[in-house]
Amino acid sequence: MPEGNSFVPGFATLEGTRRFAARFTDLSAAGHFRERQGLLVSSIGIGTYLGETDAATDRDYRDAVTAAVWGGINFIDTAINYRMQRSERSVGAALRNLFTAGFARDGIVVCTKAGFLTPDGEMPADPNEYFYREFISKGIFAAEDIAAGCHCMAPRYIEDQIERSRRNLGLSCIDIFYLHNPEMQLTEVSRETLSGRMAVAFEVLESAVKSEKIRAYGLATWNAFRDDPRAQGYLSLESVCGLARQVAGSENHFRFVQLPFNIGMPEALIRPNQVVGGKTVSMIQAARELGITLVASASLLQTHLVGKVSASVHSAIGLRNDLECALQFVRSAPGISTALVGMKRVDHVKANLKLAGIPPVSQEQFRRIFTGPQQIR
Ligand SMILES: NC(=O)c1ccc[n+]([C@@H]2O[C@H](COP(=O)([O-])OP(=O)(O)OC[C@H]3O[C@@H](n4cnc5c(N)ncnc54)[C@H](OP(=O)(O)O)[C@@H]3O)[C@@H](O)[C@H]2O)c1
Repeated sequence: MPEGNSFVPGFATLEGTRRFAARFTDLSAAGHFRERQGLLVSSIGIGTYLGETDAATDRDYRDAVTAAVWGGINFIDTAINYRMQRSERSVGAALRNLFTAGFARDGIVVCTKAGFLTPDGEMPADPNEYFYREFISKGIFAAEDIAAGCHCMAPRYIEDQIERSRRNLGLSCIDIFYLHNPEMQLTEVSRETLSGRMAVAFEVLESAVKSEKIRAYGLATWNAFRDDPRAQGYLSLESVCGLARQVAGSENHFRFVQLPFNIGMPEALIRPNQVVGGKTVSMIQAARELGITLVASASLLQTHLVGKVSASVHSAIGLRNDLECALQFVRSAPGISTALVGMKRVDHVKANLKLAGIPPVSQEQFRRIFTGPQQIR
């Protein structure tokens, strides 16, 4: 792909993210920015999953991402399939405005994902014809590479998706690139086949790191790391780290896992479903031991937590509003770097940013949540 002027060079760095954080010393409390994997990241990140595939929602996300960065959020999460590439393009539009306004590329961490078959902006009249023309006829993937009718991690497909995401975002380098819900392939293929496919995808991602198209990679998951080990979609973090080591040795760039974590879905903290070095531990402990940074998705359980947060959690966290409580829970959890919140409304960005001015709850306060009665009613 030609490197035209439309690609903003660079990537997030420790120095750049420190400079970003320094702009917000007066507005952000201690603990809002934390150092992970050589970057200073905000405890709240903006997600871009939900919404219609229309121009009004494109503008909403552009404005929400712009407001989020102006308010002290430097962690942006998207995926090529969110709103059929339109969310990535909205993030790209916001970034262009932000860079013009003086924000530096090296202060902002941009994350995206690939794995789902994704149309271009709108649903084609004949999706099969579209995917055949765009991918199969060009040898990018074969029909047998598709799992569950919608998922693909074939090497040329991952390369293709990286190029499209870079174009959509207008960035020469993506900071964190995730394989998106790889566990869903287990509904159709064996564990051995999935491991083989992930290893090949990791090779592609390692070479994308070498050519500075991405900086690091990971898995964005839904069930994989929350499930019971006997569940079909379960993944062992130790095994996935082993695959990355097999591909690129101890200097591999598999560094991040995204998983749902919220008051109603606290499994990463409380379910001992991982084994590391022969010891059974929770996902949060496993990640700590294996040097993997965890990012929480669905921090508000898509607002289903409203009206369901118990009085004991309110009192342990010290906030009365259910959603504020839910967000404070996630950004205070030991082992979670950033709480992602989907926000396409600027007033939601402003409401959630109020928490950036409050320190996360202490570990002792946090423990009280689990020693009191139930977390949700
Ligand atoms: N498997 C995966 O990889 C995966 C799965 C799910 C999510 N994610 C990532 O995680 C992000 C967060 O998850 P999510 O978006 O599914 O769910 P969420 O963050 O739990 O909830 C998002 C919803 O909450 C609303 N909201 C936000 N702040 C609010 C406030 N202060 N008051 C009232 N409503 C508020 C949003 O409304 P508006 O949008 O109207 O502002 C949106 O409808 C996603 O956007 C995505 O980037 C990844």
